[in-house]
Amino acid sequence: MGTGSDMAKLRLGDNEYDLPIRVGTEGNRAIDIAKLFAMTGHIALDDGFANTGSIMSTICYIDGEQGILRYRGYPVEEVAEQCEFTEAAYLLIFGELPNGEQLEAFRGNIRRHTLLHEGMKAIFAGFPPYAHPMAILSAVVGALAIYEKEFGDPGNPQQRLLAMHRMLAKMPTIAAFSYKQSVGQPFVYPQNDLTYCQNFLNMMFAVPSEKYKIDPDFAEALNLLLILHADHGQNCSTSTVRMVGSSNVNLFSSISAGIYALWGTLHGGANEACINMLENIAADGRNLGKYIDKAKDPDDPFRLVGFGHRIYKNYDPRATMCKAVCNRLVKRFAGQDPLFDLAQELEEVALSDPYFIERKLYPNVDFYSGIIYRIMGIPKDMFTVLFCLGRLPGWIAHWREMHLSPDKRIHRPRQLYTGHTKRSVVPLIKR
Ligand code: SDX
Repeated sequence: MGTGSDMAKLRLGDNEYDLPIRVGTEGNRAIDIAKLFAMTGHIALDDGFANTGSIMSTICYIDGEQGILRYRGYPVEEVAEQCEFTEAAYLLIFGELPNGEQLEAFRGNIRRHTLLHEGMKAIFAGFPPYAHPMAILSAVVGALAIYEKEFGDPGNPQQRLLAMHRMLAKMPTIAAFSYKQSVGQPFVYPQNDLTYCQNFLNMMFAVPSEKYKIDPDFAEALNLLLILHADHGQNCSTSTVRMVGSSNVNLFSSISAGIYALWGTLHGGANEACINMLENIAADGRNLGKYIDKAKDPDDPFRLVGFGHRIYKNYDPRATMCKAVCNRLVKRFAGQDPLFDLAQELEEVALSDPYFIERKLYPNVDFYSGIIYRIMGIPKDMFTVLFCLGRLPGWIAHWREMHLSPDKRIHRPRQLYTGHTKRSVVPLIKR
């Protein structure tokens, strides 16, 4: 793994140490510190892992300065515009675009497992009506470790493959059932003659009492959105799937952990939080200046949700595509969407403000995606559930890559201890 290498010199006191430099296929470079502690007795410290790579990976390439994102070498724009979601999922997981036969077999393996064990319906019934669908989703996905326990050994290639098929197959069903549970409607079962996206929309919006007509523009927009969200390197939730999976727990439990990580408003929860922010600004007289000032105020916890990114110091290419989809759908439907107009005005004001310019803060994938979901009639608390649906192939691809690696080991970071030195317990009576 990694192509080419030269050496970095580390000088500590009178000693000098050689640290190998690994060079990636796009010329990105890393100092390999795998032997740092053994050689020097020192660890490296990097709060938030902003400068630390946990692994070498061949799945996704991001150039944050240029705003480039590629899945297995293919620009995300091309994959999103030319592929169907299961095709993109196959690419991320197995590394190559499938031919017709491979894709049909893959889709067949997914179609056959879209139903849940009937016993799982009781889990949904146990949640109160106010339960957030993300909490339901992660809990029910975690329960797959019980109902699909025969696919629990990540060291067994056949079990690994079957677990991946079942996870991809059941996620839309669990997601749609989470929504139906939250609105008190009966579950609508998957229809295996529909595409992945059509099936999800049908399970979300159909009711047993009448036929639901799937809007082709919505199915196409959802397909593009899911692909845009499908993978993004070692983001918080993917790193969580790898961290949890590295202990050799089953795929379902690893994915359940990733769902919780994605829920945070600093991560995938930002799409829901962004719409809330836009609605608040609209309700507050569209006072953009007030909120831009709040976002810039170091003493104000308010941040411009949907803006900024740890890696992108340029426009997130996914935000560009989401904005174009917004334009298309708004033109077709309302002709105008007050929140979309507000978001564009907010972007224009922010991108001309020195605070955002100096910090290279641009719209990220979560800034416009919520507006699309809203036009499609997806309720706000389902926005991050859809992010999960999209990110699932990426999570699976990284979990599989980890288990295929001959260097696989449990993830266990070290720490720098800054607490008390040794002291003795004082008996309670004397405290
Ligand atoms: C996703 O990692 C991924 O790849 C994630 C993701 C994926 O596909 O998996 O791309 C999906 O999670 C997108 C991000 C969604 N989150 C948000 O939109 C929440 C709002 N954004 C910020 O919270 C922030 O930008 C983060 C969390 C996204 C990134 O945080 P970092 O890298 O830790 O950056 P930082 O907080 O250290 O910010 C650097 C500076 C700070 O100012 P100074 O201390 O230098 O004065 O920029 C400021 C921050 O205050 N800043 C913002 C800001 N984001 C950063 N100021 C106002 N509004 C913002 N949105």
